[in-house]
Amino acid sequence: MRFTGEGRISRVVISTALGPGGRGIFPYTLLPAYRQLLRLVQATDTTVITKSATRRRRRGNFIPGNPLTWGYIRRIAGQGMLNAYGLTNAGVEVCARQIKASREKGIQVIPNYYPEFAKGTDTAIRETLESIEIYQRFLGPALWGLELNFSCPNAQEAITENVSQGIRCVEAVRRHYPGLFLIAKISVVHPYEFAQELERLGVGAIHGVNTVPYALIFPEGRYPPSPLAHVGGGGVSGGPAGAAAMSYNAGLRQKVGVFLIMGCGVTGGEDVRRYFDMGADAVSVCTLALRRPEEAAQVLRAFNIK
Ligand SMILES: Cc1cc2nc3c(=O)[nH]c(=O)nc-3n(C[C@H](O)[C@H](O)[C@H](O)COP(=O)(O)O)c2cc1C
Repeated sequence: MRFTGEGRISRVVISTALGPGGRGIFPYTLLPAYRQLLRLVQATDTTVITKSATRRRRRGNFIPGNPLTWGYIRRIAGQGMLNAYGLTNAGVEVCARQIKASREKGIQVIPNYYPEFAKGTDTAIRETLESIEIYQRFLGPALWGLELNFSCPNAQEAITENVSQGIRCVEAVRRHYPGLFLIAKISVVHPYEFAQELERLGVGAIHGVNTVPYALIFPEGRYPPSPLAHVGGGGVSGGPAGAAAMSYNAGLRQKVGVFLIMGCGVTGGEDVRRYFDMGADAVSVCTLALRRPEEAAQVLRAFNIK
């Protein structure tokens, strides 16, 4: 367990897999192993970073109530997933209320927020600041940290081009909320200079990395095109993304001294160990918790028991 100001981040962190409120995603909650994982998360004070919220309700590609959209999240070989979820969420008020309920149950939740730069940088920044105010209203001092998602491959915004927008956003948040522990979630497509600038601006942690764009793992010509090509190809997570994510994160460690949450591609305890050996301060898992919750529970038992 690492202490970072008022809050703390557990050695292994669950990222996204427990939903926008941090208490589980339906229909996964019907699975006994997933519910067991949730209980263990509580018992071990594991840090949970939520699935992304946006300022207003957002309809992405995947809509839980519409079976025609379920193909936007699929399992792929090698304990992987391919998804083009597209940030469907009920908006920050609803997510903040759910996070409050999770905190009241003793779950250590950190919200994840997605600044919608496609609306224009100024609007996205204004909405981010408004959203922090809303989180504060619901969570009070329990809001010690916030993750900003700069790296979703499934939105209209081009992640390679959002570096300057991300920097302006972090500058604004640091100016208005200097005490807030900010986690910047980045992508393998971001240059290391982005992480270095984020560190200089005083973020508390960098989370590398989000899902990896399909074409980077399965290059055109050598592999069939993505089944989700019509929505940008989607993001690869779990086993098949591991080599690319680990190589990026190893390089990132040489470039920044800030608290690093390393993740993407963890398929079990051995991968967690590899990330720690590379110099991770914490390690995140998502796909493992969704595909093999019993294995994710093993990882928590091995690394998060005090
Ligand atoms: C179905 C699905 C939905 C995701 N949604 C989000 C999201 O809303 N916000 C975010 O920052 N990351 C999201 N992620 C990325 C994960 O948090 C994680 O960074 C990524 O999957 C790599 O880790 P893994 O290999 O352990 O899954 C999502 C991943 C999956 C598989």
